[in-house]
Amino acid sequence: MRKGIILAGGYGTRLRPATSIISKHLLPIYDKPMIYYPLSTLMLANIREILIITTDRDVELFKNLIGNGSQWGLEIHYAIQNEPNGLAEAFIVGENFIKGYSSALILGDNIFYGHDFHLILENASKSKKGASVIAYRVKNPSEYGVIELSSDLKPIKVEEKPIKPASNYAITGLYFYNEDAVEYVKELKPSKRGELEITDLNNEYLKKNQLNVLIMKRGYAWLDAGTHESLINAGQFVHTIENRQGQKIACLEEIAFRKKWIDENSLLKSINNYLHTEYGEYISSLLDNNSV
Ligand code: TTP
Repeated sequence: MRKGIILAGGYGTRLRPATSIISKHLLPIYDKPMIYYPLSTLMLANIREILIITTDRDVELFKNLIGNGSQWGLEIHYAIQNEPNGLAEAFIVGENFIKGYSSALILGDNIFYGHDFHLILENASKSKKGASVIAYRVKNPSEYGVIELSSDLKPIKVEEKPIKPASNYAITGLYFYNEDAVEYVKELKPSKRGELEITDLNNEYLKKNQLNVLIMKRGYAWLDAGTHESLINAGQFVHTIENRQGQKIACLEEIAFRKKWIDENSLLKSINNYLHTEYGEYISSLLDNNSV
């Protein structure tokens, strides 16, 4: 069984003052809180036991919003990371939760969307070998971890925010690891910027010839929402798709119900929580057998 971790700590400095008193992961992306999107991604990968890592300041708000996750057929746990000491620190903070298990780590401000994306997720999640990362072509690779690929699409090198990127392929904020990740992270030293780098963990797997790369091609969306510009772009993207198709992105009740993790009674409870809202009406429509 694979467990999930959502990293939802950090200061969100680029979004201040909007984040002066609240985690960015609780701000809305159009019609639902940001954290719903990474949660939906893990659910689509069939991961039901999830650790949310956030700060002391925000953890009670997350608990109020999400609780133990049983309303979505999940088991949610919480852990605290008060200083953003790097993405790989998730495996130190989450050691007790993750030890002995394979895992999927997702950044709390990452949004994925695309046709049959769940197939990519299910494949990555099923694989027991080493680590799998997802590469996505971007215009501005210098802002990300960048992966250099050979002509047969095998990984050659991973670099964190390179000034001269070796390719346009960024590594997205969704990583799948086998149970060795905790031990590898314990061997890492903080980088020049003082963080335990996820790129260094990925390089450990690469050195051992255990890094798989899945390419997310055009036609898929990978968005993050760390700046005011990207936050509103993500909101507009979700609004456009949902309004056009009449289907929601990251409706957690829908995913849980379609996967049969919750029954009609649980759905009815949620409907009662969202009376007179579009979200509630949408969940109601799931009870209509014709809805696809
Ligand atoms: P960043 O966007 O790098 O950091 P941030 O969210 O604190 O924002 P800013 O740069 O504006 O101050 O982080 C990416 C995601 O990872 C985000 O969802 C927060 C999360 N994160 C942690 O939870 N812990 C960490 O140690 C780091 C570095 C990031």
